[in-house]
Amino acid sequence: MADVIANSLPDRSVVIFGGTSGIGLSAAQQAKAAGAKVVVVGFDPAGAERVAAENGFAGWRAADVTRPETIVAALADIAHVDHLVLLAGTFVAGKVLEADVAYLHRAFNERVWAAVHTLRALGDRLATDGSVTFISGVLADRPNAYGTAVLAAASAGMEALARGLALELAPRRVNTLSPGTTDTPLLARTLGEGRDAYVAALKEKLPLHRLGTPAEVGAAVVFLMSNSFMNGETLHVDGGSRLV
Ligand SMILES: NC(=O)c1ccc[n+]([C@@H]2O[C@H](COP(=O)([O-])OP(=O)(O)OC[C@H]3O[C@@H](n4cnc5c(N)ncnc54)[C@H](OP(=O)(O)O)[C@@H]3O)[C@@H](O)[C@H]2O)c1
Repeated sequence: MADVIANSLPDRSVVIFGGTSGIGLSAAQQAKAAGAKVVVVGFDPAGAERVAAENGFAGWRAADVTRPETIVAALADIAHVDHLVLLAGTFVAGKVLEADVAYLHRAFNERVWAAVHTLRALGDRLATDGSVTFISGVLADRPNAYGTAVLAAASAGMEALARGLALELAPRRVNTLSPGTTDTPLLARTLGEGRDAYVAALKEKLPLHRLGTPAEVGAAVVFLMSNSFMNGETLHVDGGSRLV
């Protein structure tokens, strides 16, 4: 079994937007361990360069996925992509009646429109026997009243987009990974000093009484890339958090 996993992406060209931190970084590390040549794309060029060097990735790029011209530039010299993974994003939170609408647009710009622009930028350089993996999240199924409705809509939108693109881009496979709350730098970036209290309260409620790890969620990204019959699917890796 270990050999199957070790060789599940032999010499495949994998590009991971959001591959410089958290879930994406673990996915990149595991894809490399499975034999892939991985290029990670982050927002911060210095961070992307450092992460790629530390992990021995095949390359790195920097882009702002809300600015299509930077996506085009980041992909310009990549000849061929077998597996494209789009995980870049931030926690866009704000109540519909209160938040700045331009800020709320960001939830869709980072996800739905970033995916559209990235696929258009790649065009037929995306292998026909390859795959695309998006990310949504437990909010798509379990909303709350704390200013996450637009983010939930954008996340659910990725699931619908993947199903449509599984037909439009066929025979390329297109799937979405939906993680539960995962212990990545995103939580501290978003919640600052409130992170620990938030996590403690959440753990009480969750069936497994813990958050997901980047390795658990990253492994599911590699599964979606490497299992050649997974298509049009939303894979929930959430420890059962949709049940509570
Ligand atoms: N963690 C969770 O609980 C959770 C749950 C559900 C869904 N998600 C989603 O999963 C994805 C990854 O989350 P994570 O927890 O792994 O977060 P993370 O550790 O903060 O990593 C975010 C990644 O996205 C990149 N990024 C952010 N904004 C970008 C932009 N405008 N353009 C290009 N790259 C950008 C970051 O690059 P830099 O490092 O250079 O900034 C980094 O590589 C996000 O879309 C998040 O919404 C996370």
